[in-house]
Amino acid sequence: MKTVAVLGCGNMAQALVKGWASESLLKHYCYTPSRTRAEILAREVRGEVLENLDSINHFDVYVIACKPQQISELAQELRGKISKGALVISLLAGVTTERLSELLEHKFILRVMPNTPSMIGKGVSALYYTQNVDTDTKNFWQERFSQTGLSVVFDNEEKIDVISPFSGSGPAYIFEFARIFIEKMSDMGIDKETAHKMIVQTFVGASELMAHSNESPETLRNNVTSKKGMTYEALEVFKNSNLTNIFSTAIDSAYQRGKELSKN
Ligand SMILES: NC(=O)c1ccc[n+]([C@@H]2O[C@H](COP(=O)([O-])OP(=O)(O)OC[C@H]3O[C@@H](n4cnc5c(N)ncnc54)[C@H](OP(=O)(O)O)[C@@H]3O)[C@@H](O)[C@H]2O)c1
Repeated sequence: MKTVAVLGCGNMAQALVKGWASESLLKHYCYTPSRTRAEILAREVRGEVLENLDSINHFDVYVIACKPQQISELAQELRGKISKGALVISLLAGVTTERLSELLEHKFILRVMPNTPSMIGKGVSALYYTQNVDTDTKNFWQERFSQTGLSVVFDNEEKIDVISPFSGSGPAYIFEFARIFIEKMSDMGIDKETAHKMIVQTFVGASELMAHSNESPETLRNNVTSKKGMTYEALEVFKNSNLTNIFSTAIDSAYQRGKELSKN
């Protein structure tokens, strides 16, 4: 059984660790400065709480799951203490393996860009391994990540930054669209609870249809759209308001922010 130090037990660590813990191949030791979330996660995955980072030097795997802006502080406590052949799994958005390797003085790193639907086994994770990670380790972790949804391995780290504003941030955009639709539906006289149920199911149904269909999203869209009909009118407004451009600018902006964060 591999021992895993989980350093930071927020939303993303919880989503992934719970998926991995469904098999008894890993024993998790959870740490957070405030202890509360470490206790919650440890209880849920039958792991243990790490009281402090004093004896951090004997784990097989270290999951770095604090916020990117908290890594310098955590790295000060970890530097030189990570056991020699251990794998560091970094969830840090925008932090390159080169920078993390310098901060931690450690060279075996798996950088991951996951997303929150991992908590129900429907996530998307982009994986990048540093050159020196062996094949057995890669296979082992690919299996763990596939338990939390789709996992895709990239051999060019730059691609992790490219996909981050899509699959990493993507769930937030979907939640935002759902919020807008629910509010509009409720403004038009449908009670909020009903609006919520119907919009959520519309998103689930359309996503499942897209996942099970051999047709492109464009064809599926056209199948719902008759010329001069209701859907057509709405799509014309999207087109005339240059929705494609709005999405493109939003993605570019998120990508640039990722670049800025990686320099801090
Ligand atoms: N959320 C997402 O959708 C998403 C998607 C892709 C990638 N990520 C990445 O996942 C990471 C975690 O994000 P999150 O949303 O899970 O954040 P979060 O919910 O804010 O959790 C952050 C965790 O880090 C802990 N922490 C703070 N300082 C620490 C330190 N010095 N040492 C150890 N732990 C420390 C916090 O402890 P306390 O509980 O004591 O405050 C908390 O448990 C980030 O790097 C983010 O870029 C997130």
